Order: sequence, then structure tokens, then C-alpha cells
Amino acid sequence: MTELHKFIRSLPKAELHLHIEGTLEPELMFQLAIRNGIELNYSSELAVEEAYQFDKLQDFLDIYYAGATVLLQEQDFYDLTWAYLLKAAENNIVHTEIMFDPQAHTERGVPFSAVIGGIYRALTDGYEKLGISFRLILSFLRHMSVESAFKTLKEAVPFQGWITAVGLDSSEKNFPPDIFSDVFEKARDMGFLTVVHAGEEGPPEYIWAALDLLQASRIDHGNSAIEDPDLIDVLGIYEIPLTSCPLSNLKLKVIKRMEDHPLKEMMERGVKVTVNSDDPAYFGGYLNDNLIAVADALQLSKEEIVQLVKNSFEASFITDAEKRDFLKRVEEVEGE
Ligand code: ADE
Ligand code: ZN
Repeated sequence: MTELHKFIRSLPKAELHLHIEGTLEPELMFQLAIRNGIELNYSSELAVEEAYQFDKLQDFLDIYYAGATVLLQEQDFYDLTWAYLLKAAENNIVHTEIMFDPQAHTERGVPFSAVIGGIYRALTDGYEKLGISFRLILSFLRHMSVESAFKTLKEAVPFQGWITAVGLDSSEKNFPPDIFSDVFEKARDMGFLTVVHAGEEGPPEYIWAALDLLQASRIDHGNSAIEDPDLIDVLGIYEIPLTSCPLSNLKLKVIKRMEDHPLKEMMERGVKVTVNSDDPAYFGGYLNDNLIAVADALQLSKEEIVQLVKNSFEASFITDAEKRDFLKRVEEVEGE
């Protein structure tokens, strides 16, 4: 381990782009399948790992939704979230803003209350026992209908106090943000912030639409912004953060080589970029692995790493006072 790798591990960090269903490790997948009497398409944990070869986002999503079918009971969602929080603690993550995909479960007959109940119970335990603060983001699946998104928003009403923002994820191509304008407007009227996956496989136009029509506070991924200088300017001027996920981008062939990741150039051009793990059980690494991979490939300096980590707190949905406290903790480690 190099000095820089050690430094990365030692920094307190925030994670802002994490799908809780994407933290389902093969071992827990098998345990839950047995517990719930569900037959998996895999003969062993090794077979699961071998199946994780993707040429594009949709290849991954098919396997990700199949994996999620082992999640049935409130306790399953608790166990999933708790396992992530233990990994988060190992990665020195002190604040996390996690997304969940309720429609991936409610369409299988799992009650919304079991999904959010298990996740939220684990998050509150994580705060008490591990000191990890959190926010929760309800993501709508863009391959499902607007009606289904509205139904999901209605199901969230009794739990509104637990949810900070709504998001939009799943298959991007051919599902532009415009489709979801009305449901996002309703969500904003209810007081939710909004985040949107855009520019992962989609064009810069999808990022413009996420900003103009869905009024996104953050863009998840945003890779294709690099193709549009005006968009890069707007992201910088209006301080719209991007939540980059380097290992995800490599695994899903959004980039050919890690050296091609646009994150460093975006930072140099004034965009508030953050590094995140997206679906770490599927993409081969948690937050430290992502930071190390990108630091090595793009030859990031210590200062650039600190900037990325500070960005993660600044781009989070916590209060300014909380941000100041976390930034101070980063500076203390930086100065050691
Ligand atoms: N759902 C989980 N991971 C995703 C990703 N990388 N892009 C879109 N939807 C997702
Ligand atoms: Zn994502």
C-alpha cells in the first residue's frame, strides 16, 4: 500500500451515490435465498461472481434486479443495510446518502413499509453504534411507468420524514428525464429534493433536462457533460455536483480504461465532483477502492484527493453547520 493509499483510507468520507440493493454481496444473497426458500440461477458464489461481466448498463440491471428477488422481509432489508454500514465503517465513511428502489420490491408484492422499515432501522442503528450519519433517497425506476412512480410517491407519504430526496435510476437510454416531469414536480411540492441519474449512457441533453425540468440538486454520474462545454460551465457556475462512480463506469464500459475517466478534467474546469461506489457488490470495490483506482489512473495529487473528499461533504444534504464539522475533521487528518 502506498502512502497515498493509506492517506485515502485515513480520511473521513461521505458517500452520496450508493444503491443499497447494489451492496448485496453473493454470500448474503445465498443466505437470504435459503432463508426465504428462493431458487437462484447460480450454483455457487463463484458462479455469481463469474456472471458479473457486463458490456452495458442493461446487462448489469438484469442481474441486479434478479439478485434483489431474495429480499422479501423487513429483516432482509435490515441485514442488507447493516452489512453495507459495516463496510462503510471500514472505509471510514462517516456520512452516507443511500438510494433505494422501492418499485423493484413492491412489484413483487413486498410491502413498501417492509422495505423502508428495514433500511431505516439499520440506518438508525448505524448512527447510534457506528456514528455514521445518513440521508435516504427514494429512487424511481425509469423503465417503469409514470403511474407507478406516482403510486410509489403516495406509498412514501407515511414515511415522508425519513426521506430527504427522490431520484431517478435504471435504464437510461430511451428514458429521458422529461417523462418524469410531473411526478418530480409533485415530489418537490411535497418538500423533497431531487437527484437524477443522467449522462451515464445518455447524452448531455439528458443532463440539461434533469436540471431544467426535474430541478436536480445533484447529477448522478454526469459523464457525458464533458462533451458539452456550456453544460460544464453551468454545472460549475450553479455548483451542481456530480456523483461519479469510477469502478462502475469501468465495469459497465462507460469508459474503456480508468485513465479515460473525465473526473479530473471536470474538476479542473470547476465542477464539484465527488467519488462514490454505486453498486459495490457488483463492481468490485467500495469507496476506498474507487478513490484509489481513480487516484492511481489519473495521478491525482494529495490536494486533489482532499478536494474530492471535501466535495462529498459540501455536496451532501446536511446542514451547513454539519458540513463545517465534517470539513474540520477532514482538515485534521490532512494536517497530521
Ligand atoms: N441502478 C443501480 N445502479 C444503477 C446505475 N449505475 N445506473 C442506473 N441505474 C442504476
Ligand atoms: Zn447509480
